[in-house]
Amino acid sequence: MNVMSKPVILTGIRANNDLTIGNYFGAILPIIDMAKTRSDEYQVNLFIPDLHSFTTPIDHSLLYDQILHNARLFVAAGLPLDNPDIYLYRQSYISAHSELTWILDCFTGFGEMSRMTQFKDKSQNVYDSLGAQDFELPDDVNDVKQKKVNQTVSMGLFNYPVLMAADILLYEAQYIPVGEDQTQHLEFARDISERFNNKLGDTFNVPESVAVQHKFFGKDQGLRIKDLIDPTKKMSKSDDSGRGVIFLGDQPSAAAKKVIGATTDDLASVHFDPQNQPGISNLLQILSLLQGRTLEEVSAEFEGQSSYGDFKAVVAAEVEKFLTDFQQKLSTVDDNAVIAKLEQSEHDLIPVANATLLRAQQAVGLRQKV
Ligand code: ADP
Ligand code: TRP
Repeated sequence: MNVMSKPVILTGIRANNDLTIGNYFGAILPIIDMAKTRSDEYQVNLFIPDLHSFTTPIDHSLLYDQILHNARLFVAAGLPLDNPDIYLYRQSYISAHSELTWILDCFTGFGEMSRMTQFKDKSQNVYDSLGAQDFELPDDVNDVKQKKVNQTVSMGLFNYPVLMAADILLYEAQYIPVGEDQTQHLEFARDISERFNNKLGDTFNVPESVAVQHKFFGKDQGLRIKDLIDPTKKMSKSDDSGRGVIFLGDQPSAAAKKVIGATTDDLASVHFDPQNQPGISNLLQILSLLQGRTLEEVSAEFEGQSSYGDFKAVVAAEVEKFLTDFQQKLSTVDDNAVIAKLEQSEHDLIPVANATLLRAQQAVGLRQKV
């Protein structure tokens, strides 16, 4: 099928670390499922937002491989490489993403970006780690700590939603499946496209509202696997210690040990109750996902069991088996086939992205209108 002959569904996952079972069940599997089932009627753009990967500090010596690794993970999780309606590409290989970001930047308010919750949360994490209250003005050039604080939260983190809007608008994407934490950014992509169109004439396709998107995807977007050590927070690949996180690349036996060491409670009765028994409830959730059974079924099977050790052993064994199988599949992924797919998709999409960029350049007066 020819590029852009159908409406576009678009999404991406950052490559800022090895992914977790939370990312796998919460994002990768649903995305692949969606790509497979929707690609008859839609063009599916699945991309690796590599430019977004270092909006917070990372180890750059690992990035290049992590980008490819994310593509491999998709394939190991079942993404078909031979479906011509599914495009798999790297953001930084299509330079229009960066160029459109600059143009959109100039129509974006400093104030509206400051209010973005992801920016507030992530920058606060950095300030906390440096023992600072907040961004500190004025910059005292002689104060080493203040300087570090003021330089560590990057403009890239601040600008994150604008690049994300460019990612979406370049391909006139209509539906954009993202986790709940990204819906504010999605709303921004709608706002900026409407604002730009109103000011400078019809340039961008405005994506569907979040409410319409939810209806379209019709599934519960609220899945949140929790950290094993602190089950009140989500399991995150960006977690510094990684002690409560199961990474897809963990040694299966080491991951099983993390499950055995998971925080529970002292009620000594297995029961699904996220409020009062967040640790046990999280393990039930993980088990149901690994076994492909409903939460109700799994909860019923273990309801009231008093030995948490026995219950954890079951979950640990499933985690170990899952990782062993998944890593086996991953080891058979053909890198050449992955790279060929990436390059083909990038080749096909560069003209699409450039055409949108040109419309924006014409709208702002950088290029002559024809
Ligand atoms: P992380 O916190 O692991 O860095 P991101 O914020 O980059 O994850 O999210 C990547 C994708 O994975 C998003 O779609 C998000 O909704 C999903 N996701 C992340 N963590 C979890 C989790 N613990 N449970 C379910 N889905 C998750
Ligand atoms: N911000 C998204 C995340 O962290 C990744 C992303 C970047 C994205 N650009 C996007 C998702 C465009 C959807 C559309 O998960």
